[in-house]
Amino acid sequence: MENKTIVKLTRNCYWHIESSNLLLNGQEAKLTASQKKLLGLMVKNINKPVLNVNIFFEVWENLNKEYNEKSVRNLISSIRKAVPIISIINLYGGSYILRQVSSEPNYEFKDYSFEILDQSKNAIVITNPNIDDNPIIYINGSFTNLFGYLAEDVVGKNCRFMHKNDNDQLSLEELRLSLRNEIPITVNLRNYAKNNQLICTEVTVSPILDKNSGKLKYFLGIYTDVIMLQTLVKQIKERI
Ligand SMILES: Cc1cc2nc3c(=O)[nH]c(=O)nc-3n(C[C@H](O)[C@H](O)[C@H](O)COP(=O)(O)O)c2cc1C
Repeated sequence: MENKTIVKLTRNCYWHIESSNLLLNGQEAKLTASQKKLLGLMVKNINKPVLNVNIFFEVWENLNKEYNEKSVRNLISSIRKAVPIISIINLYGGSYILRQVSSEPNYEFKDYSFEILDQSKNAIVITNPNIDDNPIIYINGSFTNLFGYLAEDVVGKNCRFMHKNDNDQLSLEELRLSLRNEIPITVNLRNYAKNNQLICTEVTVSPILDKNSGKLKYFLGIYTDVIMLQTLVKQIKERI
């Protein structure tokens, strides 16, 4: 039976929940109290984004320190230095994920995927349909550039907030149907930025399946801002 008080993080690296200790190759890793507190929080949320503000309040809870993003960043880098084998990934917008890394030799894309997607010029959103109401679990920097939303504004929400009250769109019905049937689709949508500006977007939504089980794991949405194109078409039409 699996021991629930121990969480395997990666090869030869375990977190012992009750004692808040990290075991590396059978030895207790030397960590400071703050590093342990942070790791405890990250283990509780393993493979899920944790906001730096939550990290801050968890770690410095009783010290009356003022919220400071830099101190969180420094603490994370001190852990990376102390235990390089652990994978803590920075997400755009000030969240971090502790990834549980497979113990098999692993050349897969997935452990690095968030870092790679972060640098894409296309706005990208990933949702998790295995959580109630299919919430966003990741957005990249280009998504923030295009719509103005930060990760803390949108992680945990369903994408429907993006069309605000502009419900009367045929493409929404098509999109709903594709999501239900788990088939890829490209649609044009009227979305709205954080500042309420209309952003006409083409979004391609693809179901991402688990390689082993074939079950739906994520939805990936890739956006193109088509407002330039639409303005051009409008101008041409006006001239004809
Ligand atoms: C990856 C992904 C991206 C999506 N992008 C948008 C979007 O940009 N705008 C939007 O209104 N809905 C988007 N949706 C669809 C919404 O989640 C929702 O299904 C749709 O807005 C219809 O709303 P309803 O579920 O209330 O019927 C997206 C869904 C997924 C899985």
